[in-house]
Amino acid sequence: MTLLCSKFHIIALLSFMLGCSIVASASLKVGFYTQTCPSAETIVRKAVNKAVSLNPGIAAGLIRMYFHDCFVRGCDASVLLRSVPGNPPAEMDHPANNPTGGIYYAIPAGRRDGRVSIIDEVTQNLPPPSFSAQQIAQLFARKGMSVDEMVTLSGAHSIGVSHCSSISNRLYSFNATHAQDPSLDPNYAAFLKTKCPPPTSAAGAGGDPTTVPLDSVTPNRLDNKYYTELRRRRGLLTSDQTLMDSSLTSALVLNNVKHGAAWAKKFGKAMVHMGSLDVITGAEGEIRRICSVPN
Ligand code: HEM
Ligand SMILES: *[C@@H]1O[C@H](CO)[C@@H](O)[C@H](O)[C@H]1NC(C)=O
Repeated sequence: MTLLCSKFHIIALLSFMLGCSIVASASLKVGFYTQTCPSAETIVRKAVNKAVSLNPGIAAGLIRMYFHDCFVRGCDASVLLRSVPGNPPAEMDHPANNPTGGIYYAIPAGRRDGRVSIIDEVTQNLPPPSFSAQQIAQLFARKGMSVDEMVTLSGAHSIGVSHCSSISNRLYSFNATHAQDPSLDPNYAAFLKTKCPPPTSAAGAGGDPTTVPLDSVTPNRLDNKYYTELRRRRGLLTSDQTLMDSSLTSALVLNNVKHGAAWAKKFGKAMVHMGSLDVITGAEGEIRRICSVPN
């Protein structure tokens, strides 16, 4: 079973659990399943813990998928819908959707599943790794999220990996005057070059599968070391390093370097906020029987 598939199975379980609810509530709330399906969240927690203990990379994959689902057509599991022959491709066909010491926070539940998933909405709603702090802030503002929330959630890059293709321009072809991005610590750049050789056209249709950790200090721990690394000019993506280099966001980064516990608290709050974006609840949408297809 591929990594991607197992991520989907966990979400599949989550979606299935929605089926327990008989009484439709028109808003999200903590303890949504307490009466109708008391063991729902325990079942999901156990399945996720088991999967993550077998493969820590799954934690990162799930967090990223939550972001990608919520920013595109709201948190309605549209990211899980398979494209249908004869219809335009779906969100999951976009390359952005192909692929641990935790922070605990209560998650309001009661989301219903959507019926629509369109590939082009991914490009329109998700930031590419080349974006500046200004551009990312604008995109988050469109979703009603603040600059502080944007910097806080970028801390998710404290775990997980990136493909070399997302950063090879920073190492080999930055601009007309600099082959290497001058905002990158030269020692870190030298290290990255040992992992990510210059791209060749020989990689084939799937591209180069090589990955590097987003946070090279504590790659499997969701902590504030990510921000410490930005201060050392060791942000992996342009979109990471820009948070330290832009006057719009640098003070917020330094604040997260200093106050790790406060950052963790803000992270939980911002994840809950992101999880409420354009949700469908009550009698809207549906409860999908099969995760990958509308009923
Ligand atoms: C702020 C703008 C953001 C940009 C430009 C961005 C971009 C990216 C890119 C390019 C990758 C690597 C993909 C690859 O090459 O395989 C990545 C990975 C990841 N992103 Fe983001 N991201 C952003 C925000 C977020 C947010 C808000 C979250 C969640 C709260 C998030 C969670 C993750 C995680 C966990 C990974 C690692 C996935 C894995 O290891 O499977 N990102 N992101
Ligand atoms: C290349 O990047 C550097 C650093 O960001 C910048 O100062 C310089 O103006 C850029 N040069 C060109 C030709 O774009």
